[in-house]
Amino acid sequence: MAVRFVCDGQLVELDGVVPGDTVLDYLRERAGKTGTKEGCGEGDCGACTVLVGTPDAAMTRLDWRAVNACIQFLPMLHGKALLTVNGLGEDGPTPLQGTMASNGASQCGFCTPGFVMSLHGRAIGAAGCELPVGDVLAGNLCRCTGYGPILAAGAAHARLEHDDTPLLALLGIARALGPARGTGWFAPATAEELAQVLADNPGARIVAGATDVGLWVTKKLVDLETVVFVGDIAELGEITETPDGLTLGAAVRYADAHGAMARLSPELGELVRRIGGLQVRNAGTVGGNIANGSPIGDGPPALIALGAQVTLRSLRGQRTMPLEDFFVAYGNQDRAVDEFVESVFVPRPAPHQVVHISKLSKRFDSDISAVCGAFCLTVEAGQVTAARIAFGGMAATPARAREAEAALVGKPFEAATIAPAVEALRRDFKPLSDVRGSAAYRLEAAGNLLWRLWHQAQGTPVRVQDVRVQDVAHG
Ligand SMILES: Cc1cc2nc3c(=O)[nH]c(=O)nc-3n(C[C@H](O)[C@H](O)[C@H](O)COP(=O)(O)OP(=O)(O)OC[C@H]3O[C@@H](n4cnc5c(N)ncnc54)[C@H](O)[C@@H]3O)c2cc1C
Ligand code: FES
Ligand code: FES
Repeated sequence: MAVRFVCDGQLVELDGVVPGDTVLDYLRERAGKTGTKEGCGEGDCGACTVLVGTPDAAMTRLDWRAVNACIQFLPMLHGKALLTVNGLGEDGPTPLQGTMASNGASQCGFCTPGFVMSLHGRAIGAAGCELPVGDVLAGNLCRCTGYGPILAAGAAHARLEHDDTPLLALLGIARALGPARGTGWFAPATAEELAQVLADNPGARIVAGATDVGLWVTKKLVDLETVVFVGDIAELGEITETPDGLTLGAAVRYADAHGAMARLSPELGELVRRIGGLQVRNAGTVGGNIANGSPIGDGPPALIALGAQVTLRSLRGQRTMPLEDFFVAYGNQDRAVDEFVESVFVPRPAPHQVVHISKLSKRFDSDISAVCGAFCLTVEAGQVTAARIAFGGMAATPARAREAEAALVGKPFEAATIAPAVEALRRDFKPLSDVRGSAAYRLEAAGNLLWRLWHQAQGTPVRVQDVRVQDVAHG
């Protein structure tokens, strides 16, 4: 397959690309750009961070975002601009690189190119640049320097003016030559075309951000024969906020959905902030998180508790269902081979609804959940009149806690109601023991999250960041 993109300011045309070729392998093995490092090969460490610039429809500006090159497929770059650490300091170190050096923000240096690229993205206004520097760097790991000097170097740099006009001109040429063509790769431009491609190629693998599928290739060595890339379909990238709720197209990336999800529910916004690191949220989509069907995905339990509906589409038409019904069994979702997830609608919580979402993971940032609990209780005149509780990490699929819900509904919203609901919750799930937590830990923690909801509703700080230092100091 032939793929055209702009790499560090040069128009590149590559032949013989196969769908599973990664951007990192291209950089290090074909382009000789070995500044970009390979650490984990699974999106966790950020050593391979690069910036990808996607032109808008009018070809007037580039939407830059930091992504992990190890789990991005090369054909996904078609018609886009790639900036690597090799392309950054061609005329000597940039001021940011200079500050990293003078601050002692690098020792072995393996992680340094990744940090530099994440911080460069922040300086040029890439997606997520409004976040505090710590959040921007949560997906970059360093084993030796200590984060103090790195954070200080990052914080020292304000906006960097830059001009993307020359890149846009080159991308105009790349795009005028047509789409990525060749065996095994489809990149439909509309949802209608996507439906047709899936009808014609029933075994094809849909790829959106590749933050799950990328690992199948780098870790499980899966051969991707036929891929349908949905990341460039504008309709699937739409975000619609109304008084009733929020509709997210399936290909909306978490970084782009973050603001709207936080406006719908601050609890949901806090959860999204903790999905992967920024590089993962810059690529990973809401639809991919749902369609993947993982029992430990964070989006599904939260969306189920909020009463979300998912819409599937194919040439045969659309169908909409409560999100919990989409998850049939482990590895089995209610989706035919010719269907794709088109969108998800999340109702806006009413003022008398109590929403609480908690993710428990071994590391606070950029980690997969051991347990993710989400609660939406409707409380009217002091009574619980409806309850939706959903968990990830407690069963083979994201699932509702029906027994606990039944134990709450019709009862006064008071501490005496919570204890029996915690007991009921024990009957809802038989979790597994694995590296993230034992079955006993999971059951205990899930019950404690119900207590956490109660304490939060009483105005008690329940998260580390809510607790002020003086509260701790004075007990
Ligand atoms: C380092 C790292 C950290 C992570 N941290 C978290 C975390 O904290 N919480 C969490 O929940 N997840 C986490 N993930 C998992 C992943 O990022 C999410 O599941 C993400 O939302 C997947 O979206 P994607 O677009 O990358 O999916 P892809 O990898 O492109 O696809 C995933 C699956 O969904 C299917 N698919 C994608 N789009 C559609 C569609 N529109 N219709 C039908 N099928 C579709 C694909 O065929 C595939 O089966 C992490 C991943 C990495 C690598
Ligand atoms: S090599 Fe670790 S994130 Fe890519
Ligand atoms: S400087 Fe060695 S890993 Fe960061």
